[in-house]
Amino acid sequence: MKILGIETSCDETAASVIRGKGDKLQVLSSVISSQIEVHRKYGGVVPEVAARQHVLNILPVLNESLEKTGIKKDKASKDLDAIAVANGPGLITSLIVGVETAKSLALAWDLPLVGINHIEGHIYSNFLEHAAEIEFPAVVLTVSGGHTMLVLMKDHFSYEILGETRDDAAGEAFDKAAQLLDIGYPGGPVVALKAAEFKKKGRASDIEFPRPMLRNRDFDFSFSGLKTSLLYKIQKDPDWQKRISEYCYGFQEAIVEVLSQKTIRAAREKGAKTVLLSGGVSANTELKGQLQKSVSEKLPRAKFFSPSPEYTTDNAAMVAAAGYYRALHQKTSSWPEVKANCNSELE
Ligand code: KG4
Ligand code: ZN
Repeated sequence: MKILGIETSCDETAASVIRGKGDKLQVLSSVISSQIEVHRKYGGVVPEVAARQHVLNILPVLNESLEKTGIKKDKASKDLDAIAVANGPGLITSLIVGVETAKSLALAWDLPLVGINHIEGHIYSNFLEHAAEIEFPAVVLTVSGGHTMLVLMKDHFSYEILGETRDDAAGEAFDKAAQLLDIGYPGGPVVALKAAEFKKKGRASDIEFPRPMLRNRDFDFSFSGLKTSLLYKIQKDPDWQKRISEYCYGFQEAIVEVLSQKTIRAAREKGAKTVLLSGGVSANTELKGQLQKSVSEKLPRAKFFSPSPEYTTDNAAMVAAAGYYRALHQKTSSWPEVKANCNSELE
């Protein structure tokens, strides 16, 4: 089965074609046009600007994805089996570009269409490379710029949300910390880089950040207090600009510890056979390393997987992967039924 995936939820315009047979998935093309440079000067994504960029990019990105796969446009209706599109959550004006493009193609090529929840897409990024090894029940930590969520996945499309952030998402916390420290955009990669510089020096740090909600019995998170804590610390430190890498290190350590410890507790309590990590923040090597280590030490019978770097931040291969499984289980729609919904819930 061949699936075309389309992703335009936020500031990446992406298209991908994957081939699936049973639990064997192969990415035939994955094209991503990032708008990071466009939004950098504003310090964050500007919805109106993002939507206009998607309009400019969507057809060239689609064209490149199909060409790389060798699919001819006049044969696409035969070469492809379904189209999958991320239809929410996200920025509504951005989502509409991808959804309406996907609907037009489904109408023209008479193909079934699948609307994919963006978070479900991130979860399925793990199935691109590890589908045959993933066993249910799985506990999935999805951490991105817009979401932080712990999900119990009992089977395909059977989700129980165990916990969510009550305020900022983990990626958003990284982005806001970088803004306070004035070190660049997006924040996650720069904070991680600075933190690695400090770690390499092998020095101990006396900067201590709180571990929000770590001891709570529930699986919810809260990261906005960390940003406030950083602000108060640098306001009181006249030399903070000389210790930026140390602040980044402490800030990242706090996020990594809370995320990994709560994930391990959820996996233990729910008897997870697999622990999965996904979303843009899964590109963070400290988080990935810590979670992998904790799973092997504390849950030796469980497996741990996370996506390769190119499938951590927003991409369309993850949307196509979720679409493939939905198509495999005959959960497709016809084009009029799929709508963009910025508040779409994972279900
Ligand atoms: O999944 P994604 O591309 O978009 C959303 O669905 O939100 O995630 C983007 C987020 C940003 O907040 C970015 O700072 C964060 O992922 N991120 C990272 C790293 N790379 C990207 N956070 C921490 N460490 C990284 N290496
Ligand atoms: Zn995302």
